[in-house]
Amino acid sequence: MAFRKDFLWGGATAANQYEGGWNEGGRGPSIDDVLTGGTKDSPRVLTYVLPDGSKHTTTMFGVNNLPEGAHFTQFDEYLYPNHEATDFYHHYKEDIALMGEMGFKCFRLSISWSRIFPTGMEEQPNEEGLTFYDAVFDECKKYGIEPLVTISHYETPLGLTHAWNSWADRRTIDCYLRYCKAIFERYKGKVKYWLTFNEINCINHGGWMEAGVPSADPQILANATYYQFVASAKAVQMAHEIDPNYQVGCMIAFMQSYPETCNPADNLLNVQAMNNGSYFYMDVHARGYYPNYKLKEYERKGITLDIQPGELDELKKGVVDFISFSYYMTLVVGTAPEKETTAGNMSFGRKNPYLKASDWGWQIDPTGLRIALNNIYDRYQKPMFVVENGLGALDTKEEDGSVHDTYRIDYLRDHIKAMKDAVELDGVDLMGYTMWGCIDLVSASTGEMRKRYGFVFVDKYDDGTGDMSRSRKDSFYWYKKVCESNGEDLGAEPAQP
Ligand code: BG6
Repeated sequence: MAFRKDFLWGGATAANQYEGGWNEGGRGPSIDDVLTGGTKDSPRVLTYVLPDGSKHTTTMFGVNNLPEGAHFTQFDEYLYPNHEATDFYHHYKEDIALMGEMGFKCFRLSISWSRIFPTGMEEQPNEEGLTFYDAVFDECKKYGIEPLVTISHYETPLGLTHAWNSWADRRTIDCYLRYCKAIFERYKGKVKYWLTFNEINCINHGGWMEAGVPSADPQILANATYYQFVASAKAVQMAHEIDPNYQVGCMIAFMQSYPETCNPADNLLNVQAMNNGSYFYMDVHARGYYPNYKLKEYERKGITLDIQPGELDELKKGVVDFISFSYYMTLVVGTAPEKETTAGNMSFGRKNPYLKASDWGWQIDPTGLRIALNNIYDRYQKPMFVVENGLGALDTKEEDGSVHDTYRIDYLRDHIKAMKDAVELDGVDLMGYTMWGCIDLVSASTGEMRKRYGFVFVDKYDDGTGDMSRSRKDSFYWYKKVCESNGEDLGAEPAQP
């Protein structure tokens, strides 16, 4: 058998995209509650008012230098898909039962920070919020499902942004640690695996989504990143003190890229792209110090870090127990003038003529996953966890509720096969696999519902309609066999054209 006996097969979600109940149970607004819907061609926008009452919008990735006194809020004329999302808040029993039926060993979810600390700045947690997740974890236990909890997944409390631009200010470290203490103590014995920040490297694409920072200024974002590293390292130590069984990981959007040609200049560019896009973040989390290539870059750009006495030691003491990452696609970088570009997860790059792409232009590359697993394991020798992978696609629900998503099965089969090769043939240490968006949820980048990832179809549409009913897709039955056979039964390969 290729995979460990205790391999954690499962699925992944995030509260902001899945949970809904945005104004229930004492929850405060998060940075996603002021984000409208969008499409791949017309971006989602943030809505805000100025002190004179005038209404404004700005794109989430372009948000920078907002006028003084900007206050983010909702406007009646827009839909905010994250508010209701796909309503896990009221469907958690049904959804966890479906996960149990598939044979999940693990369910990755995030806790909505503003459900526990509504503005992020309270001294005491919101009991109703804590009780909700007690119920969720108890439900998981019924089915023998191990929760894997992301502490912060693109859902910083909006109160922190309004108070001091969130992670742009070091006071957020203490707020985050107060939140960690509340959940580490409360869920002791119910949760074992934690991730400190989802895709922390996505701060490279602007401060809003990852950190609630309304800025694209490199100096501000360098400190916002540093504060999160310090917070993560302190959280790892706190977790181990509260429960020595706790296992805490980092989470990076792994941007595997290739040089466009064998020109050494292309290869050097690729090394730099990999370092800046992904490894820098893994290096600090897994090794406990800033790599020289980043320090030199900061020196060249005149960027300074707000390092306080003792903090560099904290980084060393708080290295993570395992490395987790998301993997969807690969990119190509090159020095020659660009011919054709394509999209990717929070990224854009050159077109790879050897690969097909999803409906959203993400280049499908199972072999790239094997390469990524080898590269990461080689660099750190720590256990790894693929906590996101999947295909966002247009699904059609038939009248009888069935969804024939063979394209999704093909995508997942090929990626699981690549993981299997990495384990069996290359000997990497892999703990688990949680497929992204196991029950349909709102897309993070576009805010669309029609970009579906799930094994389970949720009757919810881009115009806000739908009765939220759940139905099993063909991939549901396929993944059940994968879980039951510990990855041995991947179903028949598709016929070659
Ligand atoms: C990752 C995020 O970037 O990719 C998820 O952690 C996100 O939150 C997922 O949903 C897929 O991206 P998208 O934009 O298709 O939802």
